Amino acid sequence: MQWAERVGAVRVIGTGVMGRGIAQLAATAGLTVELADVRREAVDAAVEHVGAMLDKLAAKQRLSEQEAEAAKQRLRPVDGPLTETSADLVIEAVREDLATKRELFAELEKACPEGAVFATNTSSLPVTSIAAALRDPSRLAGLHFFNPVPLMRLVEVIPGARTAEWIPEAFAALVRRLGHQPVIAADTPGFLVNHAGRGLNTEALQILAEQLAAPADVDRICRDVLGLRMGPFELMDLTGLDVTHPVMESVWSGFYAEPRLRPSPITRGRMEAGLLGRKTGEGFYRYVDGAKQEPPEPQAPSGPRRPVWSDNAELLDLLAAADVAVERGAAPSAEAVVLLTPFGPGAATAALDAGHPVRRVCGVDPLNWDRRFTLTVHPAVDPDVVRAAWAALAATGRAVTLVRDGAGMVAQRLLAAIVNTACGIAEQGLGAPEDIDTAVRLGLGYPRGPLEWAGHVGAERVLAVLRALHSATGDPRYRPSRWLVDRAALGLPPTETGTTPDDVLSTMD
Ligand SMILES: NC(=O)c1ccc[n+]([C@@H]2O[C@H](COP(=O)([O-])OP(=O)(O)OC[C@H]3O[C@@H](n4cnc5c(N)ncnc54)[C@H](O)[C@@H]3O)[C@@H](O)[C@H]2O)c1
Repeated sequence: MQWAERVGAVRVIGTGVMGRGIAQLAATAGLTVELADVRREAVDAAVEHVGAMLDKLAAKQRLSEQEAEAAKQRLRPVDGPLTETSADLVIEAVREDLATKRELFAELEKACPEGAVFATNTSSLPVTSIAAALRDPSRLAGLHFFNPVPLMRLVEVIPGARTAEWIPEAFAALVRRLGHQPVIAADTPGFLVNHAGRGLNTEALQILAEQLAAPADVDRICRDVLGLRMGPFELMDLTGLDVTHPVMESVWSGFYAEPRLRPSPITRGRMEAGLLGRKTGEGFYRYVDGAKQEPPEPQAPSGPRRPVWSDNAELLDLLAAADVAVERGAAPSAEAVVLLTPFGPGAATAALDAGHPVRRVCGVDPLNWDRRFTLTVHPAVDPDVVRAAWAALAATGRAVTLVRDGAGMVAQRLLAAIVNTACGIAEQGLGAPEDIDTAVRLGLGYPRGPLEWAGHVGAERVLAVLRALHSATGDPRYRPSRWLVDRAALGLPPTETGTTPDDVLSTMD
């Protein structure tokens, strides 16, 4: 029998938010769970909490009464972390402090049976540094659960530099036995999820710093165009800048100032001012009695109506179906409002390249028009032209967001940052492509994994956005990752590793 099937008992040390969730999950899956904490009252509170959660699940018929009762019976409160145990696995979920975790493991190693293995639920400390406190560091790996544990199906399995070779797969099998989905992540800052999550956050802040769009506009575009459940600013408000800003700083500095992961001075200042988000009643939004105050969307003008020419036939079809006068000639007439839909450059750059009259040119982000248009405004456009473009787009019944024009507009830019960050992770081999996508879908709730998303939109197009941003700003943050460049050039899907030297060597006789 494999190790994961043999595990009968696990000790969970640290019975706070995470320890409770892990205990519930393990007990429900049939494991005996010893609960330990430095504070005995924390153990009792955890047993009570898990019991109540199991009762709730039974009331909702997600578990039978008998299953809930049996799971409760498997919870074993113990007097301290170091009391004698026959557990096969010890999962540590104590406070996030390297010295505390190292001390705990050094003692545990003496108290536990030889065959027991150790897991840490750290979210930001190097697993290797924690394991180094053990006489035998090969016995420890990271098992990074997400909050709330029973609902968040993802678990990152993180081998340290000296972790025994059999452990990552064995931990992954155990995670599957618990009904969750494992991914294997390298022991680098942010592991997979918190590393990949930097793409959206830091780019949204960069957009704000450049005054391209307001937070509520970026969030609306993220929901309606990119299909995210929550925009980056509402998410930062939910998590709290006291948590998000230090994570951004630690991942960035952990990678020795990699520009793709660069945090923003905006969040440092806001964090220090106490504008943390929901928990302080004010962040990027205001909260009244816990309810987010969504700024109203500006009303579209009803006129003036002007004919519209566009480089995009699909857009003209949508406008014509809404009774907007459209021009379908090779070039716009002298009256026409010109709507350009470039992938990569901003509308002004695209207009100058194609020789269109810039005063009559607006940009429309070509990404996904199901619910919302993003209309871009550059410094040389005639405001009447923008109003006419806005009225025309609004006539289709969709929402319209006005933003400043620039390379990648808003949605393309955010998507390119998400993809480029993930491609950087793939390029460094910090996770297998399918694990990177799974981690992002389950850990961050994005509608697609970033590598799959790149293939869906087209690696060439994502690359065009990055190249436009790189040439417009000179910022190394936008240098396209080699993973993306190679796959676009070679016509391989971004989800595919392709042939490696190992493949060649392993297939030789
Ligand atoms: N909260 C999250 O969203 C989240 C998500 C993933 C990982 N994590 C990680 O999980 C760990 C626990 O986080 P949490 O949110 O559950 O914290 P928490 O503060 O809710 O609980 C920590 C518990 O550990 C106990 N404790 C502290 N020092 C101890 C020691 N030396 N020995 C035994 N018990 C000790 C405390 O009494 C407390 O009950 C941290 O490493 C954290 O980074 C947290």
